[in-house]
Amino acid sequence: MRILAIETSCDETAAAVVEDGVKILSNIIASSAAMHEKYGGIVPEVAARKQLESIQPVIHEALDQAKTHYQYIDVLAVTVGPGLIGSLLVGVETAKTIAFVTGKPIIPVNHVLAHMYANFVNSGSGLRKPQGQTPQFPAISLVVSGGHTELYLMRSIKDLTWLGGTLDDAAGECFDKSARLLGFGSGGGPAIAAAAAKSTNDKSTNLQIKLPRPMMDDNSLNFSFSGLKTAVMREWKKHQTSNSHTSDVKDSHTSEVKSVFAYEVQEAITDVLVEKTLHAAKQYRVKSILLSGGVAANTKLREKFLSKLEALNSKLSFHAPPVALCTDNAVSIASYAYFRGKAEGWHGLTAFPDLSVEI
Ligand code: KG4
Ligand code: ZN
Repeated sequence: MRILAIETSCDETAAAVVEDGVKILSNIIASSAAMHEKYGGIVPEVAARKQLESIQPVIHEALDQAKTHYQYIDVLAVTVGPGLIGSLLVGVETAKTIAFVTGKPIIPVNHVLAHMYANFVNSGSGLRKPQGQTPQFPAISLVVSGGHTELYLMRSIKDLTWLGGTLDDAAGECFDKSARLLGFGSGGGPAIAAAAAKSTNDKSTNLQIKLPRPMMDDNSLNFSFSGLKTAVMREWKKHQTSNSHTSDVKDSHTSEVKSVFAYEVQEAITDVLVEKTLHAAKQYRVKSILLSGGVAANTKLREKFLSKLEALNSKLSFHAPPVALCTDNAVSIASYAYFRGKAEGWHGLTAFPDLSVEI
């Protein structure tokens, strides 16, 4: 089955053609992230207007790259939520128009659930440990994105149960807000990761930062990152104040100091994510762990999972998509649609900005 998928839930405009949920024939992503840089974050109206301009060229490019045409597409798939209303509407209305003209059915897709299906496509470069192993069920799936931090039990590729999620901020949000606080603009998680790579938070910098690991050791499968964000703010202000009357004033803003903060932010977030996920894996006696969503692109997080599993001598297999399929893309939308979607006519299709992810 050949699916043309469309994804416009946030600031990306993406389209992909995927066969049988696993074979990528094309994958096109246009982002307006650079445009939002000067505002320090995504401006919904600006994102939607940009998406309106790029949606048609992106879809045509996806069809061209796949060397196909609408008539050879079996089903359309489109993200209907959760996300920004203006952005979602661009994708949904475009999909409805294509369906009206071509007579193809549409599969509405939940963006957050779709993230985890990036682990099932044949990408060639995803992280699979042991090498080449496909995910075994039951599995625990952690979706970590800008707006969500959710744990699911997967009894099969179709059978999902939500186990827990964040009570306040998402892990990606914590990365993003910390990045802004430390002066990395809207660079978000990648900026924190890059700065952290320059630091070891060791004694050589004369600066030690210790941030909390919220809810890491409790028995729930929920998360909380807003306290961590506040702690970053408090420590950062404390550091600036304590240096404001000394000759170290300039130093407090040096990239070295920022790197120490970034390192500890990344350590705190990744510690919590790994511990909670392993806790869930143990509780449900699963065979695999699946990681997905934008934060899954974080190298430290991927490495921490691997090293922790190795230290535990665990038999669990570990899976993470290639970096390009961690952040928003339409390939995951197509894969989810194939494995778990239900086709509908275009008439009743609509966008749900607050679509629930607790299933
Ligand atoms: O899934 P995604 O592309 O969009 C949403 O559905 O939200 O995730 C975006 C999030 C942002 O918070 C971004 O800072 C984070 O993923 N992210 C990262 C990395 N790359 C993207 N966080 C940490 N390290 C990264 N390398
Ligand atoms: Zn996403």
